[in-house]
Amino acid sequence: MSTDTTRERERRRRQRERLRRRRRRRRIAAAAAGAVVLLGLVFVVWTVRERMEAGKRAGESGDIIVLTGSGAETAAGLFGEGPGEVRPDVAAGGETALRDGEDGSADPAAGEGNPQLTYVPSTTVQLTEGQKHTGDLILVSSSFGYDFEANEETIHLVRIGDSQSWTYPVDKEEFMVARHIMKSLDAMIHDCDQTMGTNETGISSAYRSMEYQQNVWDEAEEEYGEDYAKSYVATPGYSEHHTGLSVDLGIFYDDGSYGSFTGSENAAWMASNCWKYGFIRRYAEDKTAITGISNESWHFRYVGLPHSAYMAEHNLCLEEYLDFLKSSTSAVNPLVYTCEGTEYSIYCTSESVIQKPAGRFEISGDNRGNYIVTVSG
Ligand code: DAL
Ligand code: ZN
Repeated sequence: MSTDTTRERERRRRQRERLRRRRRRRRIAAAAAGAVVLLGLVFVVWTVRERMEAGKRAGESGDIIVLTGSGAETAAGLFGEGPGEVRPDVAAGGETALRDGEDGSADPAAGEGNPQLTYVPSTTVQLTEGQKHTGDLILVSSSFGYDFEANEETIHLVRIGDSQSWTYPVDKEEFMVARHIMKSLDAMIHDCDQTMGTNETGISSAYRSMEYQQNVWDEAEEEYGEDYAKSYVATPGYSEHHTGLSVDLGIFYDDGSYGSFTGSENAAWMASNCWKYGFIRRYAEDKTAITGISNESWHFRYVGLPHSAYMAEHNLCLEEYLDFLKSSTSAVNPLVYTCEGTEYSIYCTSESVIQKPAGRFEISGDNRGNYIVTVSG
């Protein structure tokens, strides 16, 4: 074989080798490009899904998710803790407030891998019209009727006999109160009886429907006359007993007979101590000109702490307390009151959008067109 033929073969072999290598590089490049496209698609789908989830959460909580900056500049190091700025265009519309990305707190949904998503907690709370007529502080009197419709969803009545944590007398087994006052009611009656050394304090009236209140009115009028009924019984629709927050207490003897609550040691103990359990003596002798109801030693109304404590300390009936909150407090000038070691800020407002309080808070209507905001901690 000549040298030329050998060189020619070697040249072709190298050419084939180069071709093979070129094809292999193209295959690798194509596979790499495919992988990049696939990863990109996965990222896009994941991002869209996260945004939808975050948006859903924001919608439920009143918080908002905003897309901010890109890449590393919005990473966790730029997220803060403090309250955000209210963006005027949003705040003015009464919507959830936004703040800039650098002030946002870390979005649990965004994580380190997706720094573009910034979690923006709402800085406002939207209150409803119905909330003006529901809650532990609503005034129900001859001037302010009970709003059955507004309370239908929020009031949860339970039978006292089925729910009491210890056994004390309940005049009728169908008697009900709002579920959330049961613990306080149980404790108040328990501590009264402990002090008296008896088991005689019980419930002689509780929640009343319109029909029930009508019967009470009719019976009082028939037995004692219209003047008496007007002094002691609210017109149906205007009774605190509709709220499930009021009870009448009585003395129940073992032999089935009743004692007089008025003038009893139990009544005196209740009048002095009910505030500790969130109750007020609603119709006191010195407040009849304001409440429009004669002295009822037996009628107790739940308003919750710290309100009952403040009212007892300052000898205010519910009308006076709500008047005071309305005339003397606001979001920027709340009543600051310490009760049993906890400091509360309490204020009245008619605004349906309020700044979200920093601590735990409760909203009650006053049933007179306002909200009472109670913040603790
Ligand atoms: N006894 C109170 C005033 C009522 O009837 O609601
Ligand atoms: Zn009553």
